Amino acid sequence: MKILLLCHSFNSLTQRLHCDLRSAGHEVSVEFDINDAVTEEAIRLFAPDVVVASFLKRAIPASVFEKVPCFIVHPGPPGDQGPNALDWAVLEGASEWGVTVLQAEAELDAGPVWASRTFPLRAATKSSLYRREVTEAAVTAVFEALEKLAGNQTPSRLAKDQMRWRPVLRQSERAIDWITDTSEMVLRKIRSADGMPGLLSNIFGEAAYLFDARPFTGDATGAEPGAAIARSGPALALRTVDGAVWLGHARKAAKGAIKLPATRVFAEQSAALPEIAGGYRDIHFEEKDGAGFLQFDFYNGAMGIDACRRLTEAFDKAARSKAKVLVLTGGGDHWSNGLNLNLIEAADSPAEESWANIQAIDDLAEAIIRTTDKWIVSALGGGAGAGGVFLARAADEVWIRPGTILNPHYKDMGNLYGSEFWTYLLPKYAGPENADRIARARLPMAADEAFALGLADRVLEADGSSFAEATRQAARELAQQDLTVRLEEKAACRERDEAEKPLHAYRAAELERMRKNFFGFDPSYHVARYNFVRKIPKSRTPLTLANHRAGSPARRLTRRAAS
Ligand code: COA
Repeated sequence: MKILLLCHSFNSLTQRLHCDLRSAGHEVSVEFDINDAVTEEAIRLFAPDVVVASFLKRAIPASVFEKVPCFIVHPGPPGDQGPNALDWAVLEGASEWGVTVLQAEAELDAGPVWASRTFPLRAATKSSLYRREVTEAAVTAVFEALEKLAGNQTPSRLAKDQMRWRPVLRQSERAIDWITDTSEMVLRKIRSADGMPGLLSNIFGEAAYLFDARPFTGDATGAEPGAAIARSGPALALRTVDGAVWLGHARKAAKGAIKLPATRVFAEQSAALPEIAGGYRDIHFEEKDGAGFLQFDFYNGAMGIDACRRLTEAFDKAARSKAKVLVLTGGGDHWSNGLNLNLIEAADSPAEESWANIQAIDDLAEAIIRTTDKWIVSALGGGAGAGGVFLARAADEVWIRPGTILNPHYKDMGNLYGSEFWTYLLPKYAGPENADRIARARLPMAADEAFALGLADRVLEADGSSFAEATRQAARELAQQDLTVRLEEKAACRERDEAEKPLHAYRAAELERMRKNFFGFDPSYHVARYNFVRKIPKSRTPLTLANHRAGSPARRLTRRAAS
């Protein structure tokens, strides 16, 4: 089928649909919902069989849904209507939630239902639920809806009394009442608004949006509810009526403020607080059955200078452990998305901060590559983007699950050249031809393609919840084998590679190009980062996605093939 993905932005669910629909043989193009005229033009140019609206913030115009069937992916069960479905579910502590694919009509979310799925609602942030359960449910429901459409079936209409409109969830309706709200309620409120728009509250007498709340397990006594009582790495502990919660990130309510580690946002006040080492734990090492598991759960997968240095230290320590197999497990939602662009944006000199950040992440990649007496595995339950993909590839093996999405490209960030030894690792694991293809493409990639192109070595049949256990099992089996020959070969291969071209030469050449990105005349990287961090919507769909538009690489290829 010819499928147009209509979306506010190319978000995680849209990326996943883009991968899965293409790999199922559909012809897929993307249009950002910029205005009605642009959408109408896309319909004219592409003439799709169906529009799949994976992530929209406005209604589809009648001029479009009257011409072509439009599927709306709604993150709520059948009958649920409104723009903040998932926020409400998290806030109200629903035990089960769902996704519905319905047909667009004049009334919002009121069209007949093509397909739906339900799932148990995990105690997690809205964005984590969206990335895992909602995405899995949405993909299967969209495929079912497409099958029904192809089979000339019709969707079923719900009765009016089965529908329930939930309005925009305002800050006032989820505001924390520090005097009465328990820790569980505070967590739920913050999670209902994470990653966007954040939960508006008052910290140290200043209005701020709160994100990244995690349970606090220590002893919380004294101080009034709402007061900060301790710090741990990037996080502040906030007293509640029955304990405390960790707050990892915050954004001051002032215009132009950026989401940053909470101890950075309130640096002066935090400095006076007692530090609880390991209270908010974003790095954790555990050794079991001959395998070591290094978990690093950095908010949004962003790895700033401090995160990279702490992780390198933890990696060095893990590399000295008895474990024969080291598994780098990242976080559940994100393995790594490379440099921390928010911290860079907030720095006095973003160019200097970028430079120091890339050195820190390269140090980590180099430590992984140079460790020859352990078998190292990157296990990607969560997605990876830009430098994060190549950091994963620094290991001997990359394990992935079918739902993991990789974005192995830097160019979307203002033509960033990239480092993390990608010029060494890509040809080594993907072969020169694939390396060239991967470096030029700017598209997300699912597990099957990553496997075919050498970016992943093994696909573990698991979902977001079962991947950790599947990884443990596979690592245990690996650790039980005699790895002597494998490790000898690995060490010999490293020696040969080093003799042919030393790692420092790759690093120096990549960094020479990065220096130009950071300090050169062309400001593209700084502009792209500014827009990314501030979520400034794109004014047109990138031609790499809008295959129906003249000048898109896909159109150029088709024309070349035809001639
Ligand atoms: N630094 C800081 N924040 C980052 C980040 C980074 N490198 N990568 C992602 N994030 C944040 C996003 O701003 C967003 O924040 P929110 O919680 O306020 O919504 C959140 O992580 C999720 O990212 P989003 O872009 O919405 O996820 P996605 O699944 O739609 O897209 C990527 C995934 C990897 C394509 C996209 O996040 C991306 O391009 N990241 C930047 C990668 C990069 O260029 N890194 C620097 C060079 S190494």
